[in-house]
Amino acid sequence: MEIIILPDSQKASRLCAEVIDRAIRAKPDLVLGLATGSTPVPMYRDLIRRHREEGLDFSKVRSFNLDEYLGLPPDHPASYRRFMDEQLFDHINIPKSSTRLPDGMTKDIAAHCAAYEAEIRAAGGIDIQVLGIGSDGHIGFNEPSSSLASRTRMQTLTLQTRQDNSRFFDKLEDVPFGCLTMGIGTILESRMTVLLAFGEGKSDAIAGAIEGPVTAMNPASALQLHPDTRVFLDEAAAGKLKLRSYYRESFERSPYWQSFKI
Ligand code: PGA
Repeated sequence: MEIIILPDSQKASRLCAEVIDRAIRAKPDLVLGLATGSTPVPMYRDLIRRHREEGLDFSKVRSFNLDEYLGLPPDHPASYRRFMDEQLFDHINIPKSSTRLPDGMTKDIAAHCAAYEAEIRAAGGIDIQVLGIGSDGHIGFNEPSSSLASRTRMQTLTLQTRQDNSRFFDKLEDVPFGCLTMGIGTILESRMTVLLAFGEGKSDAIAGAIEGPVTAMNPASALQLHPDTRVFLDEAAAGKLKLRSYYRESFERSPYWQSFKI
């Protein structure tokens, strides 16, 4: 894992956006795995800025989102389809038909999840998977106890996740109990993963994911098995890492990272 600790979330988000920018310019039909939640929003804003000001072209990019709430139609204000349209897709030149999310209204969950996996395979697999992390360590909606080999499927949300996400709904009771999510096995097959985490509220989950054992109790710890994971943190999210100064030194000495505009 490469652990990148920057003074604030804006700088970390811009650096992550630059990784994606370079990848799209090198491979215009890049397949992106995308995430929702508050964390990736500043990174998406920087991608929008790069599209508007620097000609970053999304016309051939394809995307697959990690997850969607079960039972929410795409036009529901809290659906992840709506979130992605508002936060990213409506502001860049990606064809909507190239943007995929699991369908929370599907009548046949098993068939739909298998088809989602097949679509990812048919697209050639995910080149870069963007991830946030839940305060309980979830990636996608893979809650603690998820199989580290899991595939796209239905998951029941923990009370913690429903409480964390209730800010997007009028009240806790409105947060769905279920979701469809890519599995941890699905995520591990992407060629690169970029995990973003900001704020003190993520510091325990991040410490467990990076320095704890690989365990289904912290699903993000499965990324220790991924050959190219880059973790972008602000100081607060990195606050409980024991090897903080080592990660800083590795980053500062890296010829690769020195070539970025930080
Ligand atoms: P957040 O959610 O970015 O809104 O904190 C992250 C997640 O649940 O994966």
